[in-house]
Amino acid sequence: MSELLLARADEIGEGASKGFSVSWQGELIEGFLVQQNGELYAYRNNCPHTGAPLDWMPDQFMDVEGRYIQCSMHGALFQVEDGLCIYGPCVSRRLEPLPIEIVQDEIRLLTRQEKPRSQ
Ligand code: FES
Repeated sequence: MSELLLARADEIGEGASKGFSVSWQGELIEGFLVQQNGELYAYRNNCPHTGAPLDWMPDQFMDVEGRYIQCSMHGALFQVEDGLCIYGPCVSRRLEPLPIEIVQDEIRLLTRQEKPRSQ
């Protein structure tokens, strides 16, 4: 299912992020990947404040220190590990996570029919 391929794992370094657009069950999903402390996370590219995309430039989702995900619109900051907003106009709301798995160095979006493979 090549349409579910999001990126290769070596395309995203520690503290880096990468946007993607993929068709999933007839829906176009705009999202992004981010790596922190060796873990990869995926979220929809919609801020819980207004629904606007978060990136200020393609593949730029992190704050200048590379610690938090930052919304380019009004500056909300989100924890990478759980998408929780800790600063800005949507404090205590969360980014919507997307299920992913890594298979042979490929980062894939999971469909509802697939279950994560044991690591
Ligand atoms: S749209 Fe993201 S903080 Fe306002």
